[in-house]
Amino acid sequence: MDLNITQAEFGVRPPVSKPIPEFLLEVGEEGIRELISKHYDAIKQSDIYHLFPQDDAEFKQAKVNSADFFIQICGGPKYFNTNRGAPQMVGRHAPFRIDAKARITWLELYKPLLEELKDKGVTERSLYSFWRYLDIFSIWMINTPAKSNEI
Ligand code: HEM
Repeated sequence: MDLNITQAEFGVRPPVSKPIPEFLLEVGEEGIRELISKHYDAIKQSDIYHLFPQDDAEFKQAKVNSADFFIQICGGPKYFNTNRGAPQMVGRHAPFRIDAKARITWLELYKPLLEELKDKGVTERSLYSFWRYLDIFSIWMINTPAKSNEI
């Protein structure tokens, strides 16, 4: 698959579309929980891990909260609203210094996982729709300008 990463312009929030309903229908709630869990495990091995909870129990809980959100945004039950309240994703990410480079790392870690889902039979149409959501909405989470010698 050709999973492109859109160049982010600091302070600009392009319009976002939610993933198409087929993504959740094809992957399933448990499949989304597994996807998010694997993404967090990959984060743990990456150079953005310092942004995330260092405590094991908190890290595990972070997986649950995130999966709750992704199931919800994909059209499933409103687990996140029930357990955590209004999403307000930009505000929730504000305490963490997320720059363009951290976003790219975060996105790159999804690529092999989406390829895995493709190999399991999830359609490219669904996967691209999920990817577009990640690609664009992750731009919104950038809250720290790049260092002058980076991107
Ligand atoms: C499509 C874009 C993204 C979505 C939908 C998303 C979603 C979420 C959600 C639902 C949470 C849990 C919030 C809570 O329960 O209070 C969270 C937390 C967090 N996110 Fe994101 N996120 C995105 C992009 C990013 C990016 C690009 C980074 C950094 C590179 C990042 C770093 C974090 C950190 C550090 C936390 C706090 C620890 C945690 O609870 O996992 N996020 N994110």
